[in-house]
Amino acid sequence: MTYARILATGSALPERVVTNADLEKLVDTSDEWIRSRTGIRERRVAADGETTGDLAYRAALQALQDAGVKASELDMVVLGTTTPDIIFPATACLIQDRLGANGCMAFDVNAACSGFMYALGVANNFVRTGQVKKALVMGAETLTRMVDWSERETCVLFGDGAGAVVLEASDEPGILATCLHADGGYKDLLYNPVGVSVGFSDEKNHGVRIRMSGREVFKIAVKTLDALVDETLQAANMHADQLDWLIPHQANLRIIEATAKRLGMSMEQVIVTVDKHANTSSGSVPLALDAAVRSGRIKRGQNLLLEAFGGGFTWASAMVRY
Ligand code: ACO
Repeated sequence: MTYARILATGSALPERVVTNADLEKLVDTSDEWIRSRTGIRERRVAADGETTGDLAYRAALQALQDAGVKASELDMVVLGTTTPDIIFPATACLIQDRLGANGCMAFDVNAACSGFMYALGVANNFVRTGQVKKALVMGAETLTRMVDWSERETCVLFGDGAGAVVLEASDEPGILATCLHADGGYKDLLYNPVGVSVGFSDEKNHGVRIRMSGREVFKIAVKTLDALVDETLQAANMHADQLDWLIPHQANLRIIEATAKRLGMSMEQVIVTVDKHANTSSGSVPLALDAAVRSGRIKRGQNLLLEAFGGGFTWASAMVRY
């Protein structure tokens, strides 16, 4: 049996830190409100001219270096993002060229906050079927570019960042199972309505910005993630007590705590970066994974459950033997 094994991870964040106190100066909010409702203390915001591709490129370089893999060895470059640099070529193609991996397949996956998990699921299947031996999988966003900084309901929630993993085909267990889902029936609860085919401007609704029914998203996310973690355990033929780490999408600490409770895991076994990064959408899971690997918490041979939920709605997971 061929598995896709994670050889190494990488991540990148913009330099600029925006704290809750900074946002208090922009909108009618408070550090206390933001922390108690979401767990967020600060977020990173990309500099002018700094793109999703720039962040993903830095994360990719780090992952490739730590994996000891040359870009020219890659068979696949895939990026989960909902904030590509330009409409086309795909940001994955731009990164592929910068890395010098020219010739292999390269494409973006847009599954909103589940983008990295979708990209990982796709790459896993290419590796398992033998078509790909080495893959670079990234999740990256500059979501703050579509944030309305005068809207307190959303501007406090998001940040920019990128993460990457290098996968290699191996006889040793790596990714044990992936579960990918979507329900477009929920499209009106979390979306950004402007775009190529419908037109770029939305004057009636004051331009490009995220629309979100926060309370509804919260409730459905908790319920859906409960079912997703059960499904993932079943798909991997495992029990919750075999899990070493939960690496959840970093949108809201209360959603994370609810999922950990469902699994009977203590918060000591949960990687939390939402306090420092806020919600970086597709960047969030690989950023959290890389932070935990670099700090030495995640060790080889441990079982990791990765999951995400986002606009679409989309939701997806992976059970990984690291
Ligand atoms: N500062 C102060 N007050 C605020 C702010 C703010 N930044 N934002 C909203 N409020 C007010 C509201 O206006 C409301 O006031 P009212 O009671 O006078 O009407 C009050 O706070 C409570 O608002 P709720 O929306 O009920 O607050 P809730 O406890 O649900 O928390 C939140 C809101 C944090 C958005 C929560 O619903 C949430 O996290 N939902 C999930 C959304 C999410 O994570 N989306 C990201 C993408 S999807 C994903 O990644 C999972």
